[in-house]
Amino acid sequence: MKDIVFATNNAHKLRELREITAGVLNVLSLADINCHEDIPETAETIEGNAQIKANHIKEHYGYDCFADDTGLEVDALDGAPGVYSARYAGEDCNSENNIDLLLRNLEGKADRSARFRTAIALRIGNDISIFEGVVEGKILTARHGTGGFGYDSVFAPVEADGRSFAEMTPDEKNAISHRGRATSALVDYLLHGKLNTTYGEK
Ligand code: IMP
Repeated sequence: MKDIVFATNNAHKLRELREITAGVLNVLSLADINCHEDIPETAETIEGNAQIKANHIKEHYGYDCFADDTGLEVDALDGAPGVYSARYAGEDCNSENNIDLLLRNLEGKADRSARFRTAIALRIGNDISIFEGVVEGKILTARHGTGGFGYDSVFAPVEADGRSFAEMTPDEKNAISHRGRATSALVDYLLHGKLNTTYGEK
């Protein structure tokens, strides 16, 4: 199995990624390589942030690695929070504050369509490749379910049965999620050299 670093400190994402790549890749965390810094995400796109993180690990720690960044794009909010999804309600906010603000900003709006978009940047040697995954859905009017993380409790994917991501099992979410799709593209590429960079586009 190939060792590869996943440049994240998010335990939920690491668990999801290890579930998706079980038996295929040996995914090392930042803690596994003794990296305890907070890598700044200063780009204006999710692809740009993913590249910054992957390049940082290769250049400072020497490991081949991949890094992801995710944005929630809400049509009625002109694509917000997008690349700013993690700090939508402010720098020191948490997921609950972000959801509260999102629900407030959508009050009275008929169009609740949205999508999660994940970009994964893979850095092997000096080469960088980008993989993308998208899932279309709707923002619910209140939280549903207790699983998952982030905005999961208010996001219902259109291709499921109306349940939010937080009401699904990890396997159900991974099968259709933005990160599941971007990861499938990454794994296909690593195993078979198939560079299919966009999964789940409308
Ligand atoms: P990042 O990719 O960790 O920077 O995530 C950006 C924002 O999107 C954070 O607020 C995350 O909590 C949220 N987020 C990322 N992935 C998911 C997901 O799979 N479900 C729900 N929220 C997510």
